Amino acid sequence: MFDTILEIKDIKKRYEIGKNNYLTVINGANLILERNKISVIVGASGAGKSTLLHIAGALDNPTSGEVLFEKKSIFSLSQSKLAEFRSKRIGFIFQFHHLLPEFTAQENVAIPLMIGGESKKNALRKAEELLEVVGLSERLTHKPSALSGGEQQRTAVARAMANNPDLILADEPTGNLDSKNAGIINEIFIKLRDEFNKTLLIVTHNNSLMEIADTQYLMKDGKIEKIT
Ligand SMILES: Nc1ncnc2c1ncn2[C@@H]1O[C@H](COP(=O)(O)OP(=O)(O)OP(=O)(O)O)[C@@H](O)[C@H]1O
Ligand SMILES: [Mg+2]
Repeated sequence: MFDTILEIKDIKKRYEIGKNNYLTVINGANLILERNKISVIVGASGAGKSTLLHIAGALDNPTSGEVLFEKKSIFSLSQSKLAEFRSKRIGFIFQFHHLLPEFTAQENVAIPLMIGGESKKNALRKAEELLEVVGLSERLTHKPSALSGGEQQRTAVARAMANNPDLILADEPTGNLDSKNAGIINEIFIKLRDEFNKTLLIVTHNNSLMEIADTQYLMKDGKIEKIT
């Protein structure tokens, strides 16, 4: 059965860059995301991929258009429901991992769980399980500065999984990694789809991520076209 998790409908985004001077970055983008699939959007630098991903995850507002998550418009949610949606239903992975430098890998993964209401003990236990999923059982007490770039990004993947979200949004998740570490992240994404039933939307200009995509898209001229 065809089961849609997220629908992006006629999204437009323009920025005011001066008096009466506008830059249209997204100009009528549409996308239907199927549950339990990996969708990858490629596009040149400046094509609007990060902007689109932020709008899809309600981190930014569009100028017009709608985003439906499980058929409900996310921009019609109250502020408190929107915050809950962002923290519980969506996991974000950014190009730069944004880990908190003063906390260990385990604590970085535990923090969103504690914010979500888990006790510290449970949060740390779940964080340990998630770090095991990404192959970092031996790095629980390392701070980000004591992790390699690939390990930092794997920690960020574990953190995105913390509240067991349905949808994971990833912005250039392997952009700063060599091909070996990018390959490890790709394997983890496949595992999240196949063993954890996650849906992933990844934006990138790195073609190696195309290899793991169930569906590939190109973002160009402010629109999204399906490639396969
Ligand atoms: N706050 C802003 N005000 C004005 N212009 C902006 C703003 N944010 C982004 N832009 C412009 O919007 C365009 C799209 O930016 P975006 O970050 O979405 O591109 P991208 O496809 O993610 O690029 P990259 O591959 O380099 O990450 C860029 O030309 C950028 O300069
Ligand atoms: Mg970007």
